[in-house]
Amino acid sequence: MAKSYKIAVMPGDGTGPEVTAEAVKVLKVAGEKFGFTLDMTEFDFGGERYMRTGETLPDSAVEELRKFDSILLGAIGHPDVAPGILEKGILLKARFELDQYINLRPVKLYPGVPTPIKDKGPEDIDFVVVRENTGDLYSGAGGFTMKGTPQEVAIQSSVYNRFQVDRCLKYAFEYAKKHGKKAQGKGNNNTLALCGKTNVLTYVYDLWERAFHEMGKAEYSDIARDYYHVDATCMWFVKNPEWFDVIVTGNMFGDIITDLGAMIQGGMGIAAGGNINPEGVSMFEPIGGSAPKYTGQNVINPLAAICAGQMMLETLGQEQAGKKIEDAVKFITANKLDGLGAGKMGYSTTEVGDLVAEKVAE
Ligand code: IPM
Ligand code: MN
Repeated sequence: MAKSYKIAVMPGDGTGPEVTAEAVKVLKVAGEKFGFTLDMTEFDFGGERYMRTGETLPDSAVEELRKFDSILLGAIGHPDVAPGILEKGILLKARFELDQYINLRPVKLYPGVPTPIKDKGPEDIDFVVVRENTGDLYSGAGGFTMKGTPQEVAIQSSVYNRFQVDRCLKYAFEYAKKHGKKAQGKGNNNTLALCGKTNVLTYVYDLWERAFHEMGKAEYSDIARDYYHVDATCMWFVKNPEWFDVIVTGNMFGDIITDLGAMIQGGMGIAAGGNINPEGVSMFEPIGGSAPKYTGQNVINPLAAICAGQMMLETLGQEQAGKKIEDAVKFITANKLDGLGAGKMGYSTTEVGDLVAEKVAE
């Protein structure tokens, strides 16, 4: 019998449903081609539901989501809902409750895609960020005193324990071993770089740095180790992106540097990521937001959502199908699209989905 996966689909807000529909289209074709089925269940969590019911992601839904093999998310964010409510109530809640402790964000420039970095091409912009996804400034530790007075104090703490750091490093070293540049036949080394700020954050990144070298020395002596401060990381992303292979970092720096990464790989239309619990249920999403102003116009770029679907298949163990989708996306960017921006592709959202689906079916 064909292998079957139970997938929860959360299209979410704005253009989320449009891009998710294209990802689903491509995933179904990949399933037919590679002999597996995807049993999809849709959930309507997002801004509209919140305004109707006051519910973000209830605990009962989290329990429901635990029963799936994977989750595909469109976008969360609604112009009529105050910032933070949906982000914390849905996206961060899913990440934390399902303990998706890795946020895997590849930064790959595909052929034919314009990058704002002069004189750099696909061979130069090709690395992966392993962002820790549960701790740091996202831990929620903090508070106000004397709120609303001129003496008001606000504190928001970066929190990490050794367990969180070690499990993230373990994933990153293993990832570098399997998918680093040497493993891919693209270089002499598999390299893992730690991105931190050891000159100022002398507690949290001291812990990261010690744990990084301890694990590297003891278990991964064949993986080269680099270290960059986060500000320098931004500088080198622009100046010498070819230096990077696999980068591991905390939650906050990972959030920031992956938006820069998304821009150098051609923008939010193409950047995808996975919130991964290697032992549990993972959730894949385009990195870009809900883009409300483009909603319902059939102009938004679905490639990031399609690439999120690709990452989902790879994580489920359908590597060949994932590779086929990636190759199809590369073919489309190299040969078909005028650009990656909304309304600038030379094709509509659904047409781009069709183009990829046709190529996957070949
Ligand atoms: C991201 C987003 C989220 C984050 C927001 C929406 C909470 O920026 O996925 O990078 O900060 O993690
Ligand atoms: Mn972000």
